[in-house]
Amino acid sequence: MAYSQQNFIAKDYKTDNIINDILIEEEAPSNIALVKYWGKYIGQLPMNPSISFTLNKSKTITKARIKPKENKSETIDFKLFFEGKHKPDFEPKIRTFFKSIFRFVPFIQDFYFEFDSKNTFPHSSGIASSASAFAALAKIIVSLEKQLINDEKSIDFWHKKASFLARLGSGSASRSIERPVTIWGEMNTFEGSSKFYAVKPDFEIHPVFNNYQDSIVLVEEGQKKVPSSVGHKLMNTHPYKDRRKFMADENTYFMLKALKNGDLKNFINIVEKEALNLHALMMTSEPNYILMQPETLNIIQKIREFRKKTDSNVCFTLDAGANVHVLYPENEKQKVFNFLKSITDKKIIRDYI
Ligand code: PMV
Repeated sequence: MAYSQQNFIAKDYKTDNIINDILIEEEAPSNIALVKYWGKYIGQLPMNPSISFTLNKSKTITKARIKPKENKSETIDFKLFFEGKHKPDFEPKIRTFFKSIFRFVPFIQDFYFEFDSKNTFPHSSGIASSASAFAALAKIIVSLEKQLINDEKSIDFWHKKASFLARLGSGSASRSIERPVTIWGEMNTFEGSSKFYAVKPDFEIHPVFNNYQDSIVLVEEGQKKVPSSVGHKLMNTHPYKDRRKFMADENTYFMLKALKNGDLKNFINIVEKEALNLHALMMTSEPNYILMQPETLNIIQKIREFRKKTDSNVCFTLDAGANVHVLYPENEKQKVFNFLKSITDKKIIRDYI
């Protein structure tokens, strides 16, 4: 079922009868985009549809202690801990998130929140943690809402509301609620698709993608050099903006077909085209910037040579950074991992969808 923004405004909730602390723990996976979200409109709405795989091991786990406020106030009050340590420097982002979701979940003002978050992947690994972090927070707020109302809504509604809220924290977080494949953005050819939240495909994913492998080669560890928000903004005046939107629409359409039919040749073609397109957009914006490192290109070249030589179905994709996500079917697990070990000394995180 499709929902409008209006549908997500919490109604008929009761907070007065809550006297004890509420404890909620939620987790959300990291995701890797096959068709990239790049460029957005006001309200964190995407310029184009995107599709991703959620990862199995790389996730954020967040515990919340939610205390009813003795004296109700009009402020949003919370404290954020990361692996048990108070992290005031992470709080402004969370405050911005809370402000942007407030209209839809006004009951958050009636509570004081203490969050303690951890990631199952190293903090310095360069894996985007904002998607899993905001998705976990959104799931906590949705779990709280369920406790405050007479819940007669469907699971589908709650998934979509969580995705809707997560999107307001970080666009790609909308794709970290449901698993293993999610689509965010409007498509003419897919009736249930939405720019407000991510949805699952309306068909079964071909079994060749079961446990599809993602080995992440950490070419560069540490914080992102250029935040995604800067890149999204540069798309507003990008010389290739219209063409990019057209291509992303087309790539999303054909990616869905490949996921349905198990067409690995097309899958590989689109995944790699999208990765290179994303970086080409960065390299041709005003101002322009380069996030790939020589080792990124070296790995890309070696993957292409290996694929040609061995008939492998391995391919690569990139996030907004220098690390390489190496994607391949489960039945090539050992062969491709050995190959990766033979071409790079960099750390590799092994995950799967
Ligand atoms: O969700 P954001 O604002 O961090 O943007 C994510 C952008 C990419 O990771 C580069 C692509 C994507 O679709 O995940």
